[in-house]
Amino acid sequence: MDPIRIGLLGIGTVGGGTWEVITRNAEEITRRVGRPLTITRIADLDTARAREMSGGAADVTDDAWAVTRDPDIDIVVELIGGYGIAKDLVLDAIAHGKHVVTANKALLATHGDEIFAAAHDKGTVVAFEAAVGGGIPIIKALREGLVANRIEWIAGIINGTTNFILSEMRDKGVDFPSALADAQANGYAEADPTFDVEGVDAAHKLTLMAAMSFGIPVQFDACFVEGITKVDGTDIRYAERLGYRLKLLGITRRRENGVELRVHPCLVPSARLIANVEGVMNAVLVQGDAVGPTLYYGAGAGSEPTASAVIADLVDVARLISADPGHRVPVLAFQPDQVSSDLPVLPMDDVVTSYYLRMRLADEPGVLADVTRILADERVSIDAALQQEPGDEENAADIVLLTHPTTERAIRSALAKVEGLPTCTGEVVLLRMEKLS
Ligand code: HSE
Repeated sequence: MDPIRIGLLGIGTVGGGTWEVITRNAEEITRRVGRPLTITRIADLDTARAREMSGGAADVTDDAWAVTRDPDIDIVVELIGGYGIAKDLVLDAIAHGKHVVTANKALLATHGDEIFAAAHDKGTVVAFEAAVGGGIPIIKALREGLVANRIEWIAGIINGTTNFILSEMRDKGVDFPSALADAQANGYAEADPTFDVEGVDAAHKLTLMAAMSFGIPVQFDACFVEGITKVDGTDIRYAERLGYRLKLLGITRRRENGVELRVHPCLVPSARLIANVEGVMNAVLVQGDAVGPTLYYGAGAGSEPTASAVIADLVDVARLISADPGHRVPVLAFQPDQVSSDLPVLPMDDVVTSYYLRMRLADEPGVLADVTRILADERVSIDAALQQEPGDEENAADIVLLTHPTTERAIRSALAKVEGLPTCTGEVVLLRMEKLS
């Protein structure tokens, strides 16, 4: 049969991996698809490098528009990244009737509704397995493997850079800036690692998974985002003594009145598998009502792992090309006319979770009683407590409290009162905690 003709926009790390894997495994992929998948055109500003990488086997240009408008191209692979030119090219490819495969989570999390709507109108597909969890087939699992389930919640380690930094802080006892420097030296973090360490990259990925899990619009702006820049090694060590590890989690949970959508550092019991995901690895834990918990683990970034996801999408699209558009697997898992705004994303005040609280209190009679009374007044129940002399201050103690689940509203109100006590020094450190059971 005729090959499926692919136009590749960007042959950097992921594009290079895609070229390499699709070439190396061409025979096996053709046996699976029934037709060859051939990258016939490559657009990259560095045409010399693109020619060298493709060895003359594809037409190379520095004009990406020539690819999105080429009538001979069936699928455009967008690996440029960002929301600027990438958005225009994706929309142009769709307008010219192309199917699109992209790894661009930032683009889809912020402009996904517009892009998916344009593709729907044109009867084309936008596939994005590589946008979430690198090589882990989590999008396929949510869209197809778990289709029988009502998804209840997802908790994911979906940013390798921050997971590496937190692992280094725990293993080596180093502080955030030196762990970040290690991540950069190892090539994990970008030169500007803001999106990683501030939790934005994880929020992009979580936003897409939430839309697919609950049949809601893609709403990055409604996601609560707190990164790891303020994480103090002291809290990682206290958490460890209490049987927990600190992870940057993306959590989305269906509640009766809406959906929680949040990224923040979070204590997880050390015994959970996900707590033991270390270094740059990613893992996503999905709770479905029928299947229970399932865990997806693997490389969340990197040239060939991400290429693995890009090519899986290419194979899917190649198979879909011959199917009637009305009977395709819907890109966001729900039929487009069934995406509902009835389930709003909840404000953070209404989120229910457990908390780790560290406060420095005067070591005097009745001080702890004042704190527990304030918590009791807000109906916050204490799960565990630890007291430790900080060593650098006389007549003071670090008190760490773990709470049972309560609302963010209640805990914030209680903490404002605790911080107002004359016996409390400085701010109370608040970390959220999920038992994930
Ligand atoms: N910067 C991401 C991470 C990889 O550190 O996981 C690409 O999504």
